[in-house]
Formats: sequence, C-alpha cells, structure tokens
Amino acid sequence: MSGTREIKPKIRRILSRELPPGLLEALPKHWVMVGDVLILPIRPELEPYKRRVAEVYARVIGAKAVLRKGHIHGETRKPNYELLWGSDTVTVHVENGVKYKLDVAKIMFSPANVKERVRMAGVAKPGELVVDMFAGIGHLSLPMAVHKKARVIAIEKDPYTFRFLVENIWLNGVQELMTPYNMDNRDFPAENVADRVLMGYVVKTADFIPKALSIAKDGAVIHYHNTVPEKLMPEEPFATFKKVAEDYGYEAEKLNELVIKRYAPGVWHVVVDVRVSRKGEQNL
Ligand SMILES: C[S@@+](CC[C@H](N)C(=O)[O-])C[C@H]1O[C@@H](n2cnc3c(N)ncnc32)[C@H](O)[C@@H]1O
Repeated sequence: MSGTREIKPKIRRILSRELPPGLLEALPKHWVMVGDVLILPIRPELEPYKRRVAEVYARVIGAKAVLRKGHIHGETRKPNYELLWGSDTVTVHVENGVKYKLDVAKIMFSPANVKERVRMAGVAKPGELVVDMFAGIGHLSLPMAVHKKARVIAIEKDPYTFRFLVENIWLNGVQELMTPYNMDNRDFPAENVADRVLMGYVVKTADFIPKALSIAKDGAVIHYHNTVPEKLMPEEPFATFKKVAEDYGYEAEKLNELVIKRYAPGVWHVVVDVRVSRKGEQNL
C-alpha cells in the first residue's frame, strides 16, 4: 500500500504503459473504501480496461476487492455493484470506534451518512430504550449502544442483512444492550415502549409513521428520515409527519432538521427529529 499522496501518480505511472494516452484523464480521481473493499466509479470509456484498472487501484491502495458503483434500489436498499476484481466482499469497517461487518456488494453502507451515525451516538442517553425500525447492520443504533449504553431493539427484515446485524452486536460486545428481531417492523408487537424511534429509511418512510407512533412512548423522540424534492422544502418532510400524527391523535413538535445528502438531482435525504405526544396528554 502507498501513502495517500503517492497513490494517484503511482497508478498513472503503471497504467500509462497500458492504456491509450487519452484515457489516462478518465481514470477515477475519487473512490471510497469500506473496510478493505474499494468502491470505484469507472467511466464508460474505460469499459474495455475496467478489470485491469481495478486491479491496479486495488494493489496500490491495498484493497482485497473492487466494486464498480451502481445504484441502490428496492425496499431492502440493495446496492447494485459490479465486482471488478477480487472475490471476497465481506469486510469489517471501523468508524467512530464502532465495528461494522458487512458484505459491501450486497448491503448498503453510505459513507455520506457518517455524520448522522456520529450524531446518533451523541443524542442517545444511557439506559433509554431505542427502537430501530430499519436497523440494517446496526448503522445508526450500534453507535448508541456502544458509546451511550442505550438499550436497543433492532428490527431488520432482510435475512442476509440480519446475519450481519447479529454478528455486529457480538463484535461490538453490546449483546446485553441490543436485541435483534428478524421481522417486518409492521409486525413488531410492542406498543408504547420506546423513548426514541429510529426511522432510517427513505422514499416511503411516511407509510411507517403510524407504526412509529404506536411504538413510541408519550414524549418520545422520533428521528424521521425521508427523501424530499427540493421544491417541497423546507415544509417537507415535517408537514407530512405532522399531518399523519394529527390524524392518529398525536401532537408533533419539530426539534431539529438536517440535510444528510443529495439523493438524486433535485432530491435531498433529510432527517427531522420530532417529539410526539398524545393529544391532551401533555404536561400531565
Ligand atoms: C437503507 S437501510 C438503512 C440502514 C440504517 N437505518 C441507516 O439509516 O443508515 C434500510 C434497512 O431497512 C430494512 N427494511 C426495509 N423495510 C423494512 C421493514 N418493513 N421492516 C424491517 N426492516 C425493513 C432494509 O432491509 C434495510 O436493511
């Protein structure tokens, strides 16, 4: 592996002997490492050379596998990567003192959400009960258990992702604090239990607001994520949350709102922290 500053010149030097000269400018200038798996954006003009380009990047950077970036899709947010080099895409990514084991080729892990993962470690309180409705591999809730000793119920419906969630709970030594459930959160039976609810999901999160309200205790905080077309901001996504909450007999108070990242052209991934209370039950 080379030092960061030598990486690009070294790659260029090696590939200048193999690629047509005009194509050197098309080489990727940015990449992402998740554990020791490299995610590389490769432009179409490099198609005939993509495997060799991936191999050179992997050897110089020190990665065991290289994936070409695709789009994340579907209900279980599966990434759509092309494996360009190597074979083993299971790795352990360490961030903010938390170990995340995952299969990078098959499970979403967005480096752009790092601030939110760190923020969740900051807002959690020791002993409170957090229900993570879309737990994934524990992206948002592992930091809360690891750093704040919050108790967590982590619900994940995809069986493959769930295996890593369970492994990560043990890997981080928080098995006394975190309880994983491999189920659809709509079937989660407990009501009125959570001090905090995580809704780390996008596109269709609004459909799950009634379930989140039923899981939340009176006065709980819900971290409501969604994707919002720019033209509907800043009213959305809180306006929809408030409307649904009112229809179900709750007051919703916006505590905080943050833009996490650009999701698509003109569409932003936003999180709103909302305190919910049953109508007529405040200040009792
Ligand atoms: C995009 S990942 C988010 C991970 C993490 N919460 C975050 O924000 O970084 C969403 C996860 O929710 C799971 N999921 C989707 N619908 C679900 C449902 N109805 N019940 C439980 N899990 C669900 C998916 O399988 C996926 O692993």
